[in-house]
Amino acid sequence: MAQSPQDAGFWSVTKAEHIREVSRDWETYSSAQNIILNDHAVPVELVQGMFIGMDPPKHDRIKALFQRGFTPKAIDQHEDAIRAIVDRVLDGVEAREECDLVNDVAQPVVARVIGSFMGLDPEDDMPWATAINTILGFGDPDLNPKGLEQLVAEDVPEMFQKCMALVAERRANPTDDLLSTLIFAEIDGDRLTDEEIFSGFVLLMAAGNDSTKATYSSCMRALIEHPDQRQMLLDDPSLVSSAVEEALRMFPAFAHFRRTATKDTTLAGCPIKKGDKVALWYPSSNRDEDVYKDPDRFDVTRNPEHQAFGAGGRHFCLGTALARLELRILVGETVRRFPSMTLAGEPTWVLSQFSSQLKSLPVRLGG
Ligand code: HEM
Repeated sequence: MAQSPQDAGFWSVTKAEHIREVSRDWETYSSAQNIILNDHAVPVELVQGMFIGMDPPKHDRIKALFQRGFTPKAIDQHEDAIRAIVDRVLDGVEAREECDLVNDVAQPVVARVIGSFMGLDPEDDMPWATAINTILGFGDPDLNPKGLEQLVAEDVPEMFQKCMALVAERRANPTDDLLSTLIFAEIDGDRLTDEEIFSGFVLLMAAGNDSTKATYSSCMRALIEHPDQRQMLLDDPSLVSSAVEEALRMFPAFAHFRRTATKDTTLAGCPIKKGDKVALWYPSSNRDEDVYKDPDRFDVTRNPEHQAFGAGGRHFCLGTALARLELRILVGETVRRFPSMTLAGEPTWVLSQFSSQLKSLPVRLGG
């Protein structure tokens, strides 16, 4: 979706070096105005209640509540549970000739994984995933068929009410899930407001659902389209984690995040004025010719560093260990079970300036 006509222009940051510079300087480049370019899509108050849409110190205090649960060591404890979810979902499609990897495989897996972290009942996974897809897919008529106005007037308030019902249950009977962490958090002696709890809930649900689904789908598409690379994974499954890093590099799930300049400054020789919007384009920095040799080649042995999770700094992705674990299990198991899978139709993309993601990926499981 293009900029709204009401919006001013923006700076595009496209080189890895400059994205790193912006990402690490939150004092000059704030996240507190909005985190995407379009100011007339997702309600700004919803974004500003998420810690991804805050600056330090409040950002740091809220993020710190979650960090212990998201270290690689803590996340490793979930491996068996995630493997069981992936097995159950792949068992469910095994007997079919064709399926859609985005909606039949990736979506139910990521929704159950983040749903279990949030303490949701499994039957609520898909209604929440659909609601989150509607918000993130605001510009895509398939994902948001009723349009932006209805999203803001009806869908978001409805989600707020549903979330508050979950909050009331936990206030009465505290649990050890991430929603209870938000509810009982004390920041400088204050609890989060209901609106902030809702924003935090949407942030974790959106981050957990969306980007892992997107990276898996893009990775599987690349493996199907490059059978020589897939064969290397089949011959040596220890390459799966390197293949996942290569997919993160080549197909970052978010096309951009935005900052807003807090003062006049200079970036790459360009004069940035206070209040200017600055967009960090990860699909560009992850194929930066000054960093990568042959950047457009999908190479499962490359094991690259990349900026799919951000480029360091305060907002660096909280969920990297979880995303990597899910992706390794999902990609590894799908390739092992369906080694000759082929495309069964043209994949489609989400229509968006923000999400760089497939909407469908039809495949023939037996090839
Ligand atoms: C392949 C999957 C994923 C990708 C590509 C991804 C990417 C990103 C990016 C680019 C950012 C912003 C970085 C910045 O502005 O500097 C971010 C932030 C965040 N991610 Fe992820 N993410 C993924 C999975 C996850 C998962 C599974 C979770 C789990 C809950 C998660 C939770 C978050 C949170 C909470 C933030 C905000 C961090 C902050 O503002 O400090 N992400 N992610």
